[in-house]
Amino acid sequence: MFLADISICRVKMRLSSSCQIVNRCIFLFFFPIAVVLLDTTSVLGELGWKTYPINGWDAITEMDEHNRPIHTFQVCNVMEPNQNNWLRSNWISRQAAQKIYVELRFTLRDCNSIPWVSGTCKETFNLFYYETDETHGVKFKPVQYTKIDTIAADESFTQMDLGDRILKLNTEVREVGPITKKGFYLAFQDIGACIALVSVRVYYKKCPFTLRNLASFPDTVPRVDSSSLVEVKGACVDHAEERDTPKLFCGADGDWLVPLGRCVCSIGYEEIDGSCMACHPGFYKAYAGSIKCSKCPPHSFSYGEGASVCRCEKGFFRAEKDPPTMACTRPPSPPRNLMFNLNDTCLMLLWSPPSDTGGRRDLTYNVQCKRCGPDPNRCQLCEEELRFLPRHLGLINATVAVTDFAAHANYTFEIESLNGVSDMSTFPRQVAIITVSTDQGGPSLVRALKKDWASPNSIALSWQKPEPATVPVLDYEVKYHEKEHEQLSYSSTRTKAPSVIVSGLKPTTWYVFSVRSRSAAGYSSYSPKYEYETTGDSSDLASDQGQVLVIVTAAIVLIYKMCISSVPFPGVKTYVDPDTYEDPTQAVHEFTKEIDPCRIRIERVIGAGEFGEVCSGRLRTPGKKEIAVAIKTLKGGYVDRQRRDFLREASIMGQFDHPNIIRLEGVVTKMFYVCVFAGRPVMIVVEYMENGSLDSFLRQHDGHFTVIQLVGMLRGIASGMKYLSDMGYVHRDLAARNILVNSNLVCKVSDFGLSRVLEDDPEAAYTTTGGKIPIRWTAPEAISYRKFSSASDAWSYGIVMWEVMSYGERPYWEMSNQDVILSIEEGYRLPAPMGCPVALHQLMLHCWQKERNHRPKFTDVVTFLDKLIRNPSSLLPLVEDIQSLPESPLEEMEYPMFISVGEWLDSIKMSQYKSNFMSAGYNTLDSVATMSIEDVRRIGVDLIGHQRRIVSSVQTLHLQLLHEHEKGFHV
Ligand code: ADE
Repeated sequence: MFLADISICRVKMRLSSSCQIVNRCIFLFFFPIAVVLLDTTSVLGELGWKTYPINGWDAITEMDEHNRPIHTFQVCNVMEPNQNNWLRSNWISRQAAQKIYVELRFTLRDCNSIPWVSGTCKETFNLFYYETDETHGVKFKPVQYTKIDTIAADESFTQMDLGDRILKLNTEVREVGPITKKGFYLAFQDIGACIALVSVRVYYKKCPFTLRNLASFPDTVPRVDSSSLVEVKGACVDHAEERDTPKLFCGADGDWLVPLGRCVCSIGYEEIDGSCMACHPGFYKAYAGSIKCSKCPPHSFSYGEGASVCRCEKGFFRAEKDPPTMACTRPPSPPRNLMFNLNDTCLMLLWSPPSDTGGRRDLTYNVQCKRCGPDPNRCQLCEEELRFLPRHLGLINATVAVTDFAAHANYTFEIESLNGVSDMSTFPRQVAIITVSTDQGGPSLVRALKKDWASPNSIALSWQKPEPATVPVLDYEVKYHEKEHEQLSYSSTRTKAPSVIVSGLKPTTWYVFSVRSRSAAGYSSYSPKYEYETTGDSSDLASDQGQVLVIVTAAIVLIYKMCISSVPFPGVKTYVDPDTYEDPTQAVHEFTKEIDPCRIRIERVIGAGEFGEVCSGRLRTPGKKEIAVAIKTLKGGYVDRQRRDFLREASIMGQFDHPNIIRLEGVVTKMFYVCVFAGRPVMIVVEYMENGSLDSFLRQHDGHFTVIQLVGMLRGIASGMKYLSDMGYVHRDLAARNILVNSNLVCKVSDFGLSRVLEDDPEAAYTTTGGKIPIRWTAPEAISYRKFSSASDAWSYGIVMWEVMSYGERPYWEMSNQDVILSIEEGYRLPAPMGCPVALHQLMLHCWQKERNHRPKFTDVVTFLDKLIRNPSSLLPLVEDIQSLPESPLEEMEYPMFISVGEWLDSIKMSQYKSNFMSAGYNTLDSVATMSIEDVRRIGVDLIGHQRRIVSSVQTLHLQLLHEHEKGFHV
């Protein structure tokens, strides 16, 4: 089957990734590779293995249909007692391996099927190895060999099978390691069985060369110890640069775990399918990062590949501070409609902005003044002799006031528009020019304004045309306001004729009007004010309706206020923080029962807490059956503060009454003199939980429970947590070590006491903000800014789920706390433990949503787990089944149930279109699931390849949502 001694093949992963479920996960979907050190099926010549004694194992070489040898070793001395037949391989180099795998394929005869052999016939053989640096000439000495295992057959064959020509081939794999010498021999000891050894394959596993986050990671040999990972730094691919040092960890099974850090494509390059490709002509990328190449901004171009910036077209420029993303721009056109308004002392110049601003917003104006004598060709600059308000250069508004001018003079003003690139252009600048003669009179005043008629909503006015003037009137402006509201605002209207109808007025209301004229020389002053009244109106309905509306609205507000002031949640008991009591012993009295210590019999010490020993014992209560209890003690020599902190937990526990919360029997705080206890004992007495804490219980019973039993435990914990969250109590240290298990596998939440429990918890580490927090169990917002809530408890609950489903594995294995924080921040989440149903891993992922409001409430968790328990077939699809069957009918499970549109786009590598989807209103998966290719095009996905990828994923999404809706799978 294999052509060379060393070949590379794929082996099945033990722990597989959840990458097919959620794009971001801790485990990656990279198959480990196996490096084969020996494969007897691929050896063409003689194998040359040794047998001891000579008449024990038989080497038989036959030819297959391709004329390649099949090396088989047989032994079948089942009739003779005391067999000790050895077969020894040649020396096998271990190469880079530390741990090797030996795969044996063999057939074994069932002793019962051979007559007269009972007593002598065996059904096993033994596998040994011997490490040595010597490659040749090593004499075979059985004592030097270390036993790897006794190998038994899963399937043995009988005479009948032989008759039917059925070959029951067994395959067994054994791990050997650590191997430290240069190589080793394998030996097979037969002690009287009927065996045919058909093939022997020896290999070791490697994490394969891989590319991840634009970094390459070399082939890496894992460590032997299954709980220690090899940290490997990646090298950025061509045209990429490091952001955070890219790292992967090589797991014991040859799979890559926990990608951290990354490289990003350099300027001029973008990421395409895991490498950095040069931007095409017409595109550019100005910054290193995960962004794509962008089309050149307007009025710019790039001819070559890999442009970091686009060059401006002729006549267009980029100012020094313009970012490369900005369009190239040009100088503005000159100002328009330049006018002046002159009176005895002041000349106002006014103009409109240019029709072309050049594509920029930093528009300013400069004013230049020339004063010419009778000869228009003999002019001199006059900015210095005049006063310009606010100034004559760098004006922002399209107006300037000029004073200090001479009478009877001609001034020429040139107004130039400028922007940030005006200095870059070599084209001559264009200006707007106006000449003002200070002899000239201003525009004419309007006089004799009269009312022609009035109605309830309008007034018609007319006035005398001004006297013929030097400058013709362009139009009139009529200004008016309600007489009552003079200071508030006024309206104006324009007319070319010396008359106007002002409409939209209120009935029976006095208005004040005045008019001014406009000519090329500017505006005249306003005419005197005239007051006119509109006529009365019969219908006052509108205002009445307004009042009714106000009253109705007020009534609604009143009703709403009355509603919210009623009792919010009748019947819900809430938790009282003992710290709110001025005297904490008061809280102890209120929430706990005092127990006479003589009723307690301490039997043995079962653990140690921060304050003292934890013992088991019995509690007698008059008229009741004696019960088993756990007794937490406060060690002697305590100070007041320690006593208070110790009893705080009892004050909290005493407020709870739920089958999944540890029950407080009472406390011992007082001295009963009749009793034999020495000193002043202080104790907390709680119900006894036979199986102790959940984490160690699961570790001791690895693989012992059915999935339904595990879900039952999780359901209990969720129910206890629902009770606590309904009471308004936030646990802050929910972890399997703080759950106790009784003899019926009922799980109960324990360890109360807020900050104190964290002092007590060996997992709690100091954060940068100074708090002590069990990092691996704690939600990101609680780590970063101490935002503890029932939602952060839900995150911890997800970690407890993971602990339970992995039988007490340490979350994030031996990664450092810092790496855990970093990987969570980067969006990675724990993968499904081996054998974990998809539905449960989905629930974990739901609990680990970054946005805390998106996490499930404990009531949802209980309902969801109840559904799973009622319908156990929903627990059948396991995460690894789905991963190993990518083409299976479960393919529609490819997307998790709880993702957002953004996460879905991330998962299909189309993140760049998030804003297109959002701005087109596709912000739920349900809305996306109905999109057609036209819809995808319409929202601006232009590339055909991207349209196809999105549409094909939409179809899968649609199927999956239907599937989930049918199943009512959403929490
Ligand atoms: N260890 C701590 N509390 C316990 C309890 N209530 N039962 C058994 N073991 C415990």
